[in-house]
Formats: sequence, C-alpha cells, structure tokens
Amino acid sequence: MRAFALALLLALGGCATQRAAPPQADIIVIGAGIAGLAAALEAADGGARVIVLDANSVGGGHAMMAGGFSLVGTPLQAKRGYHDDVELAIRDILAWGEDADPYWVRRYVEASRPEVHDWLVARGVEFVMILPSAEDSVPRFHFTRGAAVTAVLPVLRDALASERISFLFNHDVTALLRDGPAVTGVAARDLRSGRRLKLRAPAVVIATGGFESNDSLVREHWPSGHALPTPLYVGSGEFATGSGLRLATAAGAALERLDRQLVYVTGMPNPRDPTGRRGLLVQNPAAIMVDGQGRRFVNEEAPSKDIETLVLSRNPPTYWLLFDGEGRRQLMVRGGPWLDRRVIDSEIMGNPALVSRADDLASLAAATGIPADALAATVDRYNGFLRNGRDADFGRFGAQAGARLPPALATPPYYAIKLYPMTRKSMGGIAIDHDARALDAGRQPVPGLYAAGEVTGVAGINGSHGGSGTFLGPSLLLGRIAGRTAAADLRQSGHQAAGSNPGLPAPVADNRPPEALADRLVQVEPGFWHFTQVHRLVQERAQACSSCHDASWPTGPAQTRVQQLAQLGSCTRCH
Ligand SMILES: Cc1cc2nc3c(=O)[nH]c(=O)nc-3n(C[C@H](O)[C@H](O)[C@H](O)COP(=O)(O)OP(=O)(O)OC[C@H]3O[C@@H](n4cnc5c(N)ncnc54)[C@H](O)[C@@H]3O)c2cc1C
Ligand code: HEC
Ligand code: HEC
Repeated sequence: MRAFALALLLALGGCATQRAAPPQADIIVIGAGIAGLAAALEAADGGARVIVLDANSVGGGHAMMAGGFSLVGTPLQAKRGYHDDVELAIRDILAWGEDADPYWVRRYVEASRPEVHDWLVARGVEFVMILPSAEDSVPRFHFTRGAAVTAVLPVLRDALASERISFLFNHDVTALLRDGPAVTGVAARDLRSGRRLKLRAPAVVIATGGFESNDSLVREHWPSGHALPTPLYVGSGEFATGSGLRLATAAGAALERLDRQLVYVTGMPNPRDPTGRRGLLVQNPAAIMVDGQGRRFVNEEAPSKDIETLVLSRNPPTYWLLFDGEGRRQLMVRGGPWLDRRVIDSEIMGNPALVSRADDLASLAAATGIPADALAATVDRYNGFLRNGRDADFGRFGAQAGARLPPALATPPYYAIKLYPMTRKSMGGIAIDHDARALDAGRQPVPGLYAAGEVTGVAGINGSHGGSGTFLGPSLLLGRIAGRTAAADLRQSGHQAAGSNPGLPAPVADNRPPEALADRLVQVEPGFWHFTQVHRLVQERAQACSSCHDASWPTGPAQTRVQQLAQLGSCTRCH
C-alpha cells in the first residue's frame, strides 16, 4: 500500500524532472456498461470527479440486451415462499462452476441483497419475477419487467444526471498513460472526428466488458480439450472486443482464466449481418434436437451446461432444431428486430438458407441431408414417448406426474434449423485483488489501475460454467468496489480532489438536416454504429421522428445533459 501511495505521489508531480499536466479528473472510467456506471456512481458518491468514456454512442453496454440477476435472500423470494440462504447459494454456485473462485462467490452471494438488489431498488428498479434454473436449489434468477434494460437504465440516468460525472461517448480508449509504473490517464480517439486526446487522472477503472466478439482472442484462448467449432458465430456485442485486456497488459497487469468462455449452442446465422459472422439465439420449447444422423442425442430441456458440454465434445458439431407446424409459433429469436413476429416469419422462417421446410419428414430429410429412415424412426419414437408420458431415452418428461408435455411432432409442414455454437460471455480477464485493484504477474497492484465487470471475467465467480444471472450482479458489485477503492486510495495518498468538472472538448458539430437521414443509413459511418441500428429500424417500422425526438431533444445528437436524459425515454422502444 505504501509503495502504491509513493508511486502515486510521484505520478502526481512529486517528480522534479517531469511536471505532469494537472489531471482533468480524479477517476477515469473506461466503459459505460453496468460495471463502469456503478464504478462512476460509487466514486462520485465518495466525492470524486469522474470522466466516463465509451466507444459506443450510448451507455448501458450488454445489460441493454441481457436478462436477469442472480440474487440471494430478497423480499420477492420471501414473498414467493422461496427460502434461500447464503450457504445454500454458495454451495450451488460452486458446484455449478466447478472451479469458481470461492472468495468471490461468497463475497457476491453475501453482497447480492444489500449491495446489488437494494442499490438498484433505491433507484426505482422493481424485480417482479423469479425463474427457476438448473443450478439453483431455490429459485433466485430475478427479472425486472422488460428484462435487464429496465435495471440498467435507472443507473445510466443517475450517472448522466450526476454533477460529478462527465461522459465522452464515441471515444475509443486506445492506450493508458503512465508515469513509471503508475497509470495516470488515458489516450482516446473520437470515432466520429478522428480527433485524438489525452485525459489525465490518478486513477483509471477499466470496465470494457468481455472479448467474445474478438475472433482471434476467442480462438487463441479456446478451452483446451475441446476442438474449435467451425463455424463459430459471434453472439456478443459490437464493442466486446477485449480492448481492455490489451490496455491492461500494456500497463503491466496480468490476465487469468481466459480459456473460461461461455458458449451458447443454440445459435443460427443472423441474416441481417452483412459480415456473416454474427449469430442469433434461437429457442423452441416445442422442438427436438437431432444430430446429423437424425438421432436425438440429448434431453433438450437439460441444464444448458450439459447440452453445451455434449455438443462441444462432438466434432464437427452438426445438429438441428426440428419442429412442426404446431410448434412453429413457439420459435423464439432474441434481439430487437425479432420482437416482431412478422419479421421472424419473413426473414427467418421464409429464408430457405436458414430454415428447411417440407410437407413430410422424408422431404425434410432430403432437404437437410439427414438419413430419412433414421429421422422417421426418431420422430416416431419421440411421439410414442409422448403418448406414454415418459421420455425413456433422455428423461425430458415423465419424471414428474402431471407435468405439461410438449406437443407431438405430427402437424405438417415440418421444419429444421441447423444450429451452431455461438460465443457469448467471458469468464476470465484482468487479474484483480479483493478490492478490484488490477494486479501484475507478481500479484502486486499496478498503481492507479482498477478493473471491474466482465473484463475481469467477473472475478472467476462462474468458474468454468456460466450460471443464470451471475454476470450482471457481479459486474455491478465489482464496479461499486472498484469505484469505492479508487476513491479511498486517492484520499489515502493525499490526492487533492479536483474542484470542478473537467473542461472536456465539445463534440464536433453535425449540422446535417433531418432530411438527409436515409442517405446516412446506407453505410455505417465511424462512430455511428448504434445510430444506424436505430434508424434502420425506425425506417423499416415507418416511425415518426417525433415519437422519440421532441422539444427537449430535437432530431440530432444528444449533447447536453438535459438532452441525454430525454434520450433515455426512447430506449425501451427497442430494448
Ligand atoms: C445477449 C446477452 C444476454 C445476456 N444475458 C445475461 C443475463 O440474463 N444475466 C446475466 O447476469 N448476464 C447476462 N449477460 C452478460 C452480461 O450482460 C454482461 O456480462 C454484463 O452486462 C457486463 O457488463 P460490463 O459493464 O462489465 O461490460 P459491458 O456491458 O460489455 O460494457 C462495456 C462497455 O465498454 C465499452 N468499451 C469497450 N472497449 C472500449 C474502449 N477501448 N474504449 C471505450 N469504451 C470501450 C463498450 O462500448 C461497452 O459499453 C448477457 C450478455 C449478452 C451478450
Ligand atoms: C424509436 C425512436 C427514434 C425515432 C422514431 C427516431 N429516432 Fe433519431 N435517435 C434515436 C436515438 C436512440 C438516437 C441516439 C442514437 C445514438 O446516438 O446511438 C437518435 C439520434 C438521432 C440523430 C443524431 C445523430 C448524431 O449525430 O448523433 C439524428 C440526426 C436523428 N436521430 C434523426 C432522426 C430523424 C430525422 C428521425 C425521423 C425520421 C428519427 N431520428 C427518428 C431514436 C429515434
Ligand atoms: C429503434 C430501436 C432502438 C432504440 C430506440 C435504441 N436502440 Fe440500442 N440498439 C438497437 C439495436 C438494433 C441494437 C443492436 C442489437 C444487436 O446487435 O442485436 C442496439 C444496441 C445497443 C447497445 C449495444 C448492446 C451490446 O450488446 O453491445 C447499447 C448499449 C444500446 N443499444 C443502448 C441504447 C440506449 C441507451 C438507448 C436509448 C437512449 C437505445 N439503445 C435505443 C436498437 C435501438
């Protein structure tokens, strides 16, 4: 600790030979996802002035697309009659993850009620539903109405409203500034204008999320013992490039557990993705899964971990989702554009490159290359199990009397969707101590550097198998811890808190008239990725500009705090 304070003092200008420019803020946070936002709010509560940078043009990160939170001992659990307790939850999580970090499992489980649940509820977040999941002996997978978007938006709102926090969107952090071993700020690039800038602060929190959209990192760290599936689709966000790992290692931090990656095996190619790399998550509770030989190979309702392990141990993993005209309505595709059933019908169900369709099983077999006899026998056998009320092969149903059965596969037409593995979440990343300080290879803190959220692989609480809701809560908790530690370390080092907000550069003005919108959507201009996603949907749905933009935020970039807050009113139109 003393070495740390000394390095910090040197970095702050105690060094006579080098007079550093005065810092623009006390703490810089890289990434405005749930971890970065929590870090910023916590640091601001501790009296710090904070700058948050994000490469995207809007905040929220992956939580905008995510589902629920694993929480232990909540009022909603009590209301539902679920008797949960800390020791039980710890046992469940450790057993599921297999090699989870016991310190962080306990720390999270103990903190999930007071530090995650209560913190969100105090901002107006309301948990309304708890789903059971395979690893939880008591249901603890909590949802807000509309999923995690309605949990992260109030956090984003409070951070945008905070007088102590300033945001720079569209800014990609390209390097950490250093003075000797100490991290003293960031170098960033405005993606829209190309302008480069340096910002100084004696503490930097990396909260850049996972690396599951970075093909080469995914491949380099593919879990040993499993062959790399080809193709492997990308199921994580546009900005989940793992850039934070590069920033951290260049500043001397160590990485760990990078080979712990959570892969989803019910992916299919996203027909809207021009790169052909991105996948979509598909599910159908009325379907069966068959392999390339036309045989069922798994209980389709088994815990995700068991299905993943089975699929990934096959090489090549060829498998299909099979359903009929009756089950077709139960097909679910995750993601904004697919909320509209008609879009699923036209772009997925009606796309023969994605979905094979036939009036009988023999023709379906011919269309998919699955042996016809085997396919017919599999469907017959499965329908027989349904008639007897028991799945004698894989135990999907029949263990519990009176449970609802899926429908028989008997109503033409028949459908088959070829499924593929898809990357999703990182369970390894920057090594941290118990207070979220980034550690070097000798497990000593890198002065001035902190890390939180998925960029730490949420501190190993998932071990080798991601659980239900054990990313969002731990990311939020880690963010709070990082913000708190950074603020406390600064106080202890004698750092004088910045008295006022930084004079950040004004955004480059964009004066293009609203009429020019259509032209701007043809190609994604640098820094306009989300803008393009949004307005292509707006165009497709023929929505009026005024249904989202109004007097407090006219059609144009949200530059002031008031405009940024007004903009938040539009987010749940798509998320
Ligand atoms: C589709 C989907 C569903 C999910 N569902 C669940 C769920 O139900 N429950 C659960 O617990 N977890 C879920 N997860 C995982 C969970 O959402 C994430 O682990 C969590 O939100 C991570 O938060 P974070 O703040 O650490 O990172 P992120 O949310 O990834 O935020 C990182 C931010 O950093 C920015 N950034 C990255 N690099 C740079 C850079 N160099 N410069 C500037 N900015 C940068 C990014 O733009 C981004 O905004 C899901 C994930 C996905 C993809
Ligand atoms: C469903 C909600 C919605 C509708 C409808 C909508 N917008 Fe937007 N608009 C947004 C959001 C959200 C943003 C912020 C996007 C971002 O920066 O990532 C935005 C940002 C913009 C921007 C700023 C781009 C920049 O430079 O940052 C312009 C210009 C704009 N909209 C024009 C329009 C016009 C013109 C219409 C009508 C044709 C329209 N919008 C309809 C939600 C909407
Ligand atoms: C008109 C629809 C629309 C509106 C309104 C909208 N978004 Fe989005 N947003 C999208 C789409 C589409 C994507 C890309 C989803 C995908 O990749 O599947 C996206 C992606 C994102 C992402 C990246 C998520 C990730 O996983 O990396 C964030 C963050 C985000 N939106 C935040 C916001 C915020 C904050 C608002 C409100 C200010 C908003 N969005 C409003 C359509 C919209």
